[in-house]
Amino acid sequence: MRVAGIEEFGGPVKALEVPDPRALRGTEVLIAVKAAGVGNWEDLVRTGDWDVGGTPPMALGVEAAGVVAAVGEGVEDWSVDDEVLTHPVPLVDQGTWAPSLIAESGLLARKPADVSWTSAGAFPVRALTAMQVLDEGLSLKPGETLLVNGAGTVTGGLIVSLAVLRGAHVLATAGPSSRERVKRAGAATVVDYHDPNWTAQVLEATAGRGVNAAANAAPGGAATTLAAVRDGGRLATITVDPPEAERGVEIASVIVRPDAAQLELATQELAAGRLEFESGASFPLAEADAALAYAVAGRGGAVVLEL
Ligand SMILES: NC(=O)c1ccc[n+]([C@@H]2O[C@H](COP(=O)([O-])OP(=O)(O)OC[C@H]3O[C@@H](n4cnc5c(N)ncnc54)[C@H](OP(=O)(O)O)[C@@H]3O)[C@@H](O)[C@H]2O)c1
Repeated sequence: MRVAGIEEFGGPVKALEVPDPRALRGTEVLIAVKAAGVGNWEDLVRTGDWDVGGTPPMALGVEAAGVVAAVGEGVEDWSVDDEVLTHPVPLVDQGTWAPSLIAESGLLARKPADVSWTSAGAFPVRALTAMQVLDEGLSLKPGETLLVNGAGTVTGGLIVSLAVLRGAHVLATAGPSSRERVKRAGAATVVDYHDPNWTAQVLEATAGRGVNAAANAAPGGAATTLAAVRDGGRLATITVDPPEAERGVEIASVIVRPDAAQLELATQELAAGRLEFESGASFPLAEADAALAYAVAGRGGAVVLEL
């Protein structure tokens, strides 16, 4: 099977031949991949800094959408031809940048007909991250004020949309080109993070008290974000930069984990048109190296490989 991946940790992304998928075990399914997401986190997998299972030579990729092509003998809930999406970590065979993927059936969510393959393929990691930030890292409650720093990122936009659906009052930071999108997601106040005093603007917008909770999606931005959180509030960061706790603020560093039920719920919101999420640049599998470089450059939009 021809995939896009690495021959060794730290090596470049390239097209390579790996063995065809092995026989399915118990509760596994085989998926014919239609689209697979590409995020800057894939560079951590490439260098061996994020262990998602699997050893090189291997296909990269930790999210995909596709059609179930075969089911193991212990699979009850899924059938051949079902359309699904998944964050199938730990990988049980190859990564998702491949024509065929073996995944645990317990990690699948159903792809609604009105969600495109490209959207579905690039949705799982960011959607799960956003759900886990709000419901686990922050335990956000209706009526609370939430600041999302880096709401111009795809993940930040999802955090804004989902927080608004949970009844929060959302303030956000974004650059000028993302401002309208972040407002469309439901943020009541959007300040430009390029202003070195943006936290003062957030404090002013909350009558000097600061927000109940904050989510940081901007690389290296958690410590600055903390200044806008009120005493005893909560901060969750997804960029592995948790600052020292101060003033009784609870700090969480959220790393995405697979959860089929959460993915199913988020996908339903996507299908209902209630989330700000757009797939961005799309590449063929043979150009996975260019796709990863594009994602690492952070030009915006969820990058996807189409198969
Ligand atoms: N912990 C986890 O499990 C997890 C999961 C998913 C993602 N992540 C991480 O979360 C971050 C966002 O990921 P993503 O894929 O959603 O990003 P993305 O969509 O690729 O983000 C690109 C956008 O970031 C914004 N940006 C760039 N520099 C910024 C800064 N200094 N402050 C605020 N915004 C800035 C820009 O928008 P504007 O300038 O137009 O606003 C740009 O369009 C990444 O670091 C990623 O690795 C972590």
